[in-house]
Amino acid sequence: MLNGNKMLFSGMQATGTLTLGNYLGALNNWVTLSDEYTCLYCVVDEHSITVRQDPAELRKRARNLLTLYIAAGLDPEKNIIYYQSHVPAHAELAWILNCFTYMGELQRMTQFKDKAAKHADNINAGLFTYPVLMAADILLYQSDVVPVGQDQMQHLEITRDIALRFNNLYGDVFTIPEAYIGKVGAKIQSLQDPSKKMSKSDENANASIYLTDDRDTIIRKFKRAVTDLEACVRYSDDQPGIKNLITIYSAVTGKAPADVEAEFEGRGYGDFKLAVGEVVADRLQPIQEKQAALLADKAYVDGIIKTNAERAEYLALKTLRKVQKKIGFPERIR
Ligand code: TYM
Repeated sequence: MLNGNKMLFSGMQATGTLTLGNYLGALNNWVTLSDEYTCLYCVVDEHSITVRQDPAELRKRARNLLTLYIAAGLDPEKNIIYYQSHVPAHAELAWILNCFTYMGELQRMTQFKDKAAKHADNINAGLFTYPVLMAADILLYQSDVVPVGQDQMQHLEITRDIALRFNNLYGDVFTIPEAYIGKVGAKIQSLQDPSKKMSKSDENANASIYLTDDRDTIIRKFKRAVTDLEACVRYSDDQPGIKNLITIYSAVTGKAPADVEAEFEGRGYGDFKLAVGEVVADRLQPIQEKQAALLADKAYVDGIIKTNAERAEYLALKTLRKVQKKIGFPERIR
């Protein structure tokens, strides 16, 4: 039923509307890797509450995200697709790992610093220990590989540090995970300011392609993307806007950046932007349609949610029990 002996774990937050950055940096690679590993793809709803959420909206977004995973091509029979909050072992292991993580390590996390600046009225302890919950997600399943975008690298490094620290004390309890960063698409930038990453929390809706955008909106946003005066489709750091568009085109079509340059040699930015918009719209449209069909099929999706949480829990408990034993918690008598 599951694919390989090696384990893969990844997740996304059910916060905001997902962007093309999430798709190209993560989801798209997940689909490619899913044949090679036993994969867990988690909707990390517990991470989401580090920022205040509207309850009804969070529930809706979590279901949208779970169905999006499937609509994007992840088979819920071959992969374990589930909600983090349905498997209590995540939170239990996170508590234990909190006791093996130093304040100084967490203080260095750039995502914490960014989010604390953005949500100055709600710098809660969960926001601070967020990476520890992430470490628990990954280590619970003895994950060998964790496909993520560039912005999650620091969290992967702290996960490895925590795992090594624990293993040094108690023997080889955890597999030390490796990040998998895709060759293209690991860092998709804003369409309005190519020095910033494309982010679901950007206030300017034209800066991001949302996975829910329709064809006309996608094409309009690409037409408005910030470029430069060079008038030459070249993959260069001197042309960050065009470089970002080439990256997007490459990630969607699978063509190497040099081949994209050749394809658009002598052609204007108008042509190129339209072509990028079209390939992105062509890719997203069938996913949106499949997702809508899944959301309409409540019984099917509920069935997946139930069985997959059970499958995840079975694997998670194996690690959690081992950890509890190692650190000296009393034996369970039932
Ligand atoms: P999240 O929800 O912010 O993002 C989900 C995935 O999308 C990637 N990503 C991008 N990739 C390329 N370009 C961009 N502009 C871009 N924006 C986002 C992210 O790198 C990520 O892979 N903490 C994680 C969720 C998480 C997790 C985990 C991931 C919780 N536990 C365990 C892996 C393993 C997060 O907030 O991702």
